[in-house]
Amino acid sequence: MKKKLILDVDTGIDDAIGILLAVKSEELDLIGITTGCGNVSLEAATTNTCKVLDLINAPSSIPVVKGSAAPLKRQPHFEHKVHGTDGIGGALLDVISEREITPGDAASFIIEKIMESPGEVSVVCTGPLTNLAKSIQQQPAIVDHVKEVIYMGGAINGIGNVTPVAEFNTFADPEAASVVLEAGIPNLTQVGLDVTKHALLTEKHIETITEPALHDFLKQSTATYRKAFYEQNGIWACAMHDPLAIGVFIDSTLVKKTACSVAVETSSRFCDGMTVWDRQGKWGLPANVQVCMEVEAERFLSLLVDVLNRS
Ligand code: BDR
Ligand code: CA
Repeated sequence: MKKKLILDVDTGIDDAIGILLAVKSEELDLIGITTGCGNVSLEAATTNTCKVLDLINAPSSIPVVKGSAAPLKRQPHFEHKVHGTDGIGGALLDVISEREITPGDAASFIIEKIMESPGEVSVVCTGPLTNLAKSIQQQPAIVDHVKEVIYMGGAINGIGNVTPVAEFNTFADPEAASVVLEAGIPNLTQVGLDVTKHALLTEKHIETITEPALHDFLKQSTATYRKAFYEQNGIWACAMHDPLAIGVFIDSTLVKKTACSVAVETSSRFCDGMTVWDRQGKWGLPANVQVCMEVEAERFLSLLVDVLNRS
């Protein structure tokens, strides 16, 4: 049976590739995409989502539902430096999507779908955790009925990508990340920078994409991102943060996980958004999240390319 998935995105470049992976994966039943602010504004994330769905003629029956325009308590913190002014590296600038946005809001949609099919629906979040946190605040019972929650976020070993210690998604809305981590979700997985930084898409991978429109999209959308990565790390590549979270949902054997007690810092001059792991058990709290510690990166990249090459 296909696994029912709600994908929560803030469609920048890697979210876009994640959407392509989720739609094209035969293992998944994508029952909806919810959008939020993060890499770009809510409006831009929603527009980008629709353009990417159009690129592969995704069925119009996949609902696209708008969520939060701002983090729970903070001002938005966009990431145009990495994702470009439009959020997808200028790759689909001329496209105008006619796709209809499903009325309603993301938090209610998530609640409705989980409660409608208890124990069957999973949520994968590839942006700040605002929408999911709002769902939990509005209907705490979803915690016991969601099948699995996987989020791309955090850096368990404390090496961030926005600040010295914080990863973008947890930094952009640390209060939301904190709500999700403290909710008591039985099957919660963190796919953080510790593993996503190894999932590097190179030109070699892109050149194996057979469908011309998809090939061009991957090449164009990631161009600036790959250049920035080269300038920082000396490798022409870009990290597939968000697609890896979806990859882990498709095939959990891609990663090794450790059960950890983790909290998110929300009130610190230097460390807001840091995922703090109590590895010595000082808090005396049980593990609240399975954290991905190792990844078979090339196996994941092969899966990504294989799925994108499906007709
Ligand atoms: C995360 O931040 C965003 O820039 C990416 O889309 C990803 O979700 C990586 O830190
Ligand atoms: Ca993202």
